[in-house]
Amino acid sequence: MKKLAPSILSADFSKLAEEVARIQEGGADYIHVDVMDGHFVPNISFGAAVMKSLEGKTNLPFDVHLMIENPDQYLEDFMTPSTEFITVHQEACVHLNRTVQHIKSLGAKAGVSINPATSLSTLDYILEDVDMVLIMSVNPGFGGQKFIPSALEKIWELAQIKKAEELDFEIEVDGGVNLENVQEIASAGADIIVAGSAVFKTPDITETTKQFVSRIRSV
Ligand code: DX5
Ligand code: ZN
Repeated sequence: MKKLAPSILSADFSKLAEEVARIQEGGADYIHVDVMDGHFVPNISFGAAVMKSLEGKTNLPFDVHLMIENPDQYLEDFMTPSTEFITVHQEACVHLNRTVQHIKSLGAKAGVSINPATSLSTLDYILEDVDMVLIMSVNPGFGGQKFIPSALEKIWELAQIKKAEELDFEIEVDGGVNLENVQEIASAGADIIVAGSAVFKTPDITETTKQFVSRIRSV
């Protein structure tokens, strides 16, 4: 079943718990937590304390997206009973296999993400170890950007590799997803869809979430 992970980067931080309650009501599957350090990406978002402030306020699991340098230093901070995925960037990890093993040793599912210009081939020797591959369809750092069309080809190619090699990682797609392009992205092979501004920057967050969920479930 295809799943939806709304990104709280685009939520109203002054009422974060309420905004998360809206996506939960609308049937979202995860909370996508965009962590940015102002070094790996040109923006600073928030740290583990903000994510932990949601503990007990929602039963949605956390899908943590670390857009930070030296992620190994912070893995424990983001490991909570609600943490389902911790995703690191291939471009930020000198010892990616060790980092993936570290995430799994903490009890989370391990994700690896690649930026739009990074080739799938950089993941050749880690695909069998990861639980999820996050394909960036925007240059990371900000919400509200336009979907980069070449990402569609990448999603499709990765889905072919997954099938041919009988691997069971999930494919997540992140950046510029909206109600108009979400079905095409899901049909190309995305298992988990991230949407930030297309969910939270709408008048009725619950209703928008319901529309996203029904569209991806129908693929
Ligand atoms: C960008 C983040 C994305 C972003 C998605 O660096 O990783 O998760 O918040 O926001 P939209 O859906 O508005 O592109
Ligand atoms: Zn993200």
